[in-house]
Formats: sequence, structure tokens, C-alpha cells
Amino acid sequence: MNIDQIFKNNREWVQSKLNIDAHYFENLSEGQNPDILYIGCSDSRVTAEELMGVAPGDAFVHRNIANMVPNTDLSAMSVLDYAVVHLKVNHVVICGHYYCGGVKAAMQSADLGILNPWLRNIRDVYRIHRKELNLIQDEELKYKRLVELNVQEQCINVIKTAQVQKAYRDRGLTVHGWVFDIKSGKLIDLKINFREILQGIMEIYRLS
Ligand code: CO
Repeated sequence: MNIDQIFKNNREWVQSKLNIDAHYFENLSEGQNPDILYIGCSDSRVTAEELMGVAPGDAFVHRNIANMVPNTDLSAMSVLDYAVVHLKVNHVVICGHYYCGGVKAAMQSADLGILNPWLRNIRDVYRIHRKELNLIQDEELKYKRLVELNVQEQCINVIKTAQVQKAYRDRGLTVHGWVFDIKSGKLIDLKINFREILQGIMEIYRLS
């Protein structure tokens, strides 16, 4: 990749925005008021804003390998806290994607060094849903299903936090689970029943 080209692209982008609105960046600098927190994969093929068709200022974004929300991860927890408590977003989205390298790596037996503890979170998802996954003979279908189940489990991790439980009570915040299908470009809503999951796990995870 030609790095100079990136700066050339940037100058063109600035001009294209200013052509439509001369105060575009001035207005942008005044603050942000996004309504969505998007948690997705770092995969270079899965952009956040572009696939949703939203503009700068519309979505608060966190990306890591395999769109995980481990409750001991300071980065993910800080993003969630800031978005929910301070920016007061009304939607938290976990967006996974088919053909995810992180999920694939977790399905294989290999020592990947520093990635081991990270991928172990996905292996835990496999263990929880082992019965269902082991019934799937086709490897690709199994891989796709694990991507979906991982999204579901990360939604549950989001729901386990005090900030989200409080925001649900106070203003009806909603958690969504999506999958981006790289092969078709389509965004799929897994239609995770947030309220049902919340009620189902509150017996154990209620924080207030
Ligand atoms: Co991925």
C-alpha cells in the first residue's frame, strides 16, 4: 500500500465533504452524540461505518479479534462504560462475521502464544454449545454457527454488566446481535431476544 496515496485520499475526502457543507468539520469538532455502540471484529474486510452506511458521529466503535467482550478486558469494558453511561447510546450492537479468522483459529488445535488466552474465550463458547455444534457434520456450517453463537454469547456478556442492566431499566437500551456475511455483503440480524435473555440470566447476574 502506498502511504502517500492515503494522504492524497484524505485531502480529496476533506474537499468532498466541504463541497457539500463548508462547516462540516467545524460542526464535527463540537462533540459527538452517537446512538449506537458497535462492537465488531478487527478483520480488514469488515468495516463498521461503511457496511452500516452511517457517517462520522453516528456510531461509537470498538473492534478486536472476533468481536469479544470479556469482562476482564479493560479496553472493551471502558468502551462499553463510556458509550452507555456517558454518551448514553440506546443500542449496543455485537457484529460478528462469517469466515472470521479468530473463530477459525479457536476451532483448531494450535498453540498461538499470546493469542491463546484471547481465543480461549471463543473455545469457551464452543464448550457451552458443544452438543449443538458437534451435531453439525459440515465443517463450514459448524464454523458459521460458532460465529453466530459467539455473537450471542458476547451479547450475554454485554447484558451481564451493571451499566447495561441500569440503562435497560432507565431508558430501554437494547442489545443486538448481527452477523456480516462477507460472501454476500449482507448484514444479518440474528434477532437475539435481548429481553428474554436478560430475564433468563438475571437470577444469577443481577447487579442491582
Ligand atoms: Co473476524
